[in-house]
Amino acid sequence: MCGIVGYVGDRPALDVVVDGLARLEYRGYDSAGVAVLAGGTIDSAKRAGKLANLRAALEERPLAEGTVGIGHTRWATHGAPTDVNAHPHLDCTGSVAVIHNGIIENFATLRRDLEERGHELLSETDTEAVAHLLEEEMPEAGGLAEAMRRVCRKLEGAFTLLAVDTADPGAVVAARRNSPLVVGRGDGENFLASDVAAFIAHTRDAVELGQDQVVELRRDSFTVTDFFGHPAAYNEYHVDWDASAAEKGGYDYFMLKEIAEQPQAVADTLLGRAGLDGTLALDEMRLSDEDLRDIDKIVIVACGTASHAGMIAKYAIEHWSRLPCEMELASEFRYRDPILDRQTLVIAISQSGETMDTLMAVRHAKEQGARLLSICNVNGSSIPRECDAVLYTHAGPEVAVASTKAFLTQLVAVYLVALYLAQVRGIKYTDEITAVISQLAAMPEKVEKVLDIVEPVREVARSLASEKCVLFLGRHVGFPVALEGALKLKELAYMHAEGFAAGELKHGPIALIEDGVPVVVVVPSPRGRSVLHNKIVSNIQEIRARGARTIVIAEEGDEAVVQYADTLIRIPDVPTLLQPLVSTVPLQVFACELATAKGHDVDQPRNLAKSVTVE
Ligand code: AGP
Repeated sequence: MCGIVGYVGDRPALDVVVDGLARLEYRGYDSAGVAVLAGGTIDSAKRAGKLANLRAALEERPLAEGTVGIGHTRWATHGAPTDVNAHPHLDCTGSVAVIHNGIIENFATLRRDLEERGHELLSETDTEAVAHLLEEEMPEAGGLAEAMRRVCRKLEGAFTLLAVDTADPGAVVAARRNSPLVVGRGDGENFLASDVAAFIAHTRDAVELGQDQVVELRRDSFTVTDFFGHPAAYNEYHVDWDASAAEKGGYDYFMLKEIAEQPQAVADTLLGRAGLDGTLALDEMRLSDEDLRDIDKIVIVACGTASHAGMIAKYAIEHWSRLPCEMELASEFRYRDPILDRQTLVIAISQSGETMDTLMAVRHAKEQGARLLSICNVNGSSIPRECDAVLYTHAGPEVAVASTKAFLTQLVAVYLVALYLAQVRGIKYTDEITAVISQLAAMPEKVEKVLDIVEPVREVARSLASEKCVLFLGRHVGFPVALEGALKLKELAYMHAEGFAAGELKHGPIALIEDGVPVVVVVPSPRGRSVLHNKIVSNIQEIRARGARTIVIAEEGDEAVVQYADTLIRIPDVPTLLQPLVSTVPLQVFACELATAKGHDVDQPRNLAKSVTVE
């Protein structure tokens, strides 16, 4: 998820674009760059790090004056956050500049073919290939807009592209597929951006572009077509958000926005990971198949929400790859004198990549000779840098302290790792792998469906605002989900909340049940292991008989639980191991709504930090 801005008008483009980037920095801050058309050339600057680094560079060497420009704040996916990998990217002649938000799935093939045709690409990014493809199309296309349409027809994946060309200094051309792009309509000036926050200081008249569209923007006009040049419809609207609300996409909190972004985050994390033959291609893994075949044990280290993803990973890795897998809290790991060797794969899961407990666990594992893989959301952060390999999640920046979209993308990543291990070790046939990949590909839509029906969750959450405690029960992969639901409630509503394996109830916790105690129960799929389902129905009966107020999360069509649920929250039926992707979402909404009802700052809960960089 990156921030992009384009401007065509009468004002200095550099000022408008950089100010717009400042409004979008929450979308990505690994690097920033701008390009301005001036005097028949492109003048550009780009720097790794936050926008302040670019501003400093522009102080040192201001760009040429121009009234047409594009700018970019990067959330790195392909290629570490360096100056070279920062956008914009230019073609061989320096007459075309491109910026990009998204993931181009087939960029490796495109890049290889370009290099075979003599192009020299300088960065590790997928974006740079687009600049050179535009260069190749220009002579025949007769203009940047047509060249962009021709290039877009070659791209697969998710992209919003903005480009400028010295041959047409009065235009910015943009294209979008599965990634946001809006036009801001001004008076004698027009804007392009990832979202309206970039230009609502100048205009509130916006145009939302549709799928597979190209827009040619000039100071007093814009033309929208599909990828084949046919005129295309678009949606005009007036923005009534203030600047702060615009950064949150109109939501009251970043957490609500990030919960809503989960379908896209899951889809983005899946992008580019299935090869053309349906098998997995985790190209950034950098652990050879030989290394992975040599592994005889897996240990996962993580903290907090990431540790719950690790617990779910254990089920998936052992079920699909048949490798023994342990999940260890990073803060406990190295004090346990764990038995590690070259045949141990330690997987460190971390959204920030900076959690000191997890980083120290990684260092300990490295000293013991283990192989290290990180699953991380921040490109180039400390933990992936100290591991042998990395699988990046593509959740985009997660601003709220309470992790939501990062957690769901961690689940996607651990499923991919589990399947990849099964693939390289020959435990599963290709058709079995592709079957699960197809199930994963359907998950964004399933998550979207949950988001559409969570109103009952909000209602029951508000009704519990005066409660002192909420218990959470789950079995199998629903147990880590119960723990995650309890953690969300603790960190947001400052309430006592506890998650249990439902089978543990009779070993003590059932003594907590008395009249009115709210208990959230995550019910496993009746199609998975019916014995598990039957047991948890018995658990619900046991607590109901003792007066509990049962809030039951169960699959559509699961009728066995209806009579025991005071509140029934339906989730789509999905494969057993993938259920956490849909069952977690109501718990996120539940905690967020209850905390809001108590008047708490949901984005920045007391005593907590987004990244715990101390032990
Ligand atoms: C989760 O909502 C919390 N913010 C916290 O538990 C977090 O998951 C934990 O600190 C680990 O952070 P990391 O994923 O950045 O390593």
